[in-house]
Amino acid sequence: MYGLVNRALQEFICTHHGEASWAAIRITAGVELEFFVRMESYPDDITYRLVGAACESLCIEPATLLRNFGRHWVLFTGQEGYGSLLDGAGSSLQEILTNLDDLHVRVGLMYPALKPPSFSCSDVREDGLTLHYFSERPGLAPMVMGLIEGLGERFGKTVTIRHSCDRNAGADHDSFDIRIA
Ligand code: HEM
Repeated sequence: MYGLVNRALQEFICTHHGEASWAAIRITAGVELEFFVRMESYPDDITYRLVGAACESLCIEPATLLRNFGRHWVLFTGQEGYGSLLDGAGSSLQEILTNLDDLHVRVGLMYPALKPPSFSCSDVREDGLTLHYFSERPGLAPMVMGLIEGLGERFGKTVTIRHSCDRNAGADHDSFDIRIA
C-alpha cells in the first residue's frame, strides 16, 4: 500500500502509545525503513506485519486496532490535505458512502498505482443504508467499520453498525448494515 497508509499508522501509534513503542513495533515487524514516503507504493506485507507487531506489543486485538485506525484515517486524511476530497465526495454520510469509488478514482489520479477497494450501497434510507465492501486484501473489515464511525463523527452523526455479511465466515464479500441517527 502507499506510504500514506503506513505514515498514518505510524502517526496513530506514536500519538496514542509514543515514539518508543513505534520503534519497538517496527523492529518486531522486521521493518528497517525509518520512515515512509507518502507517494511510494510498498508491499502490503509491510503494513500487515506492522499491524501484527503492534497488536502483539500493545496486547490489542487486530479487530480493535484496525477499527481505531479506521477512525483515525478519516481525521488523518482530513488533516493531510485531503479534506477537500472528502468534502467533494458528499454533503451527507449517505452521499459520501455512495461515492467511495469515485473518491478513490480521484485519489488514483495522484496515486497511479492505487489498488483501491470497491464499495456499493443498497437499501439507502434517511436513517441508514447497507454498505457492501469488496477488496483483494483480507482482514480489513474492522477498519471499514472504523472508517464509517470516523465519517459519522465528521458529519456529527451517531452510527450503529452491524457486520451483516462476513467474508471470514465464507460470504463472498463483507457488508455492513448502518443506522444513522
Ligand atoms: C480523501 C480521503 C482518502 C484517501 C486520500 C484515501 C486513500 C487511500 C489509499 C492511498 C489507500 C491504499 C491503497 C493502495 O495503496 O493501493 C486506501 C485504501 C483504503 N481505503 Fe481509502 N482513502 C480515502 C478515504 C477513504 C474512505 C472515506 C474510506 C471509507 C470506507 C476508505 C476506505 C479504504 C479502505 C478500506 C482501504 C484499504 C484497502 C483495501 O480495502 O483493499 N478510504 N485509501
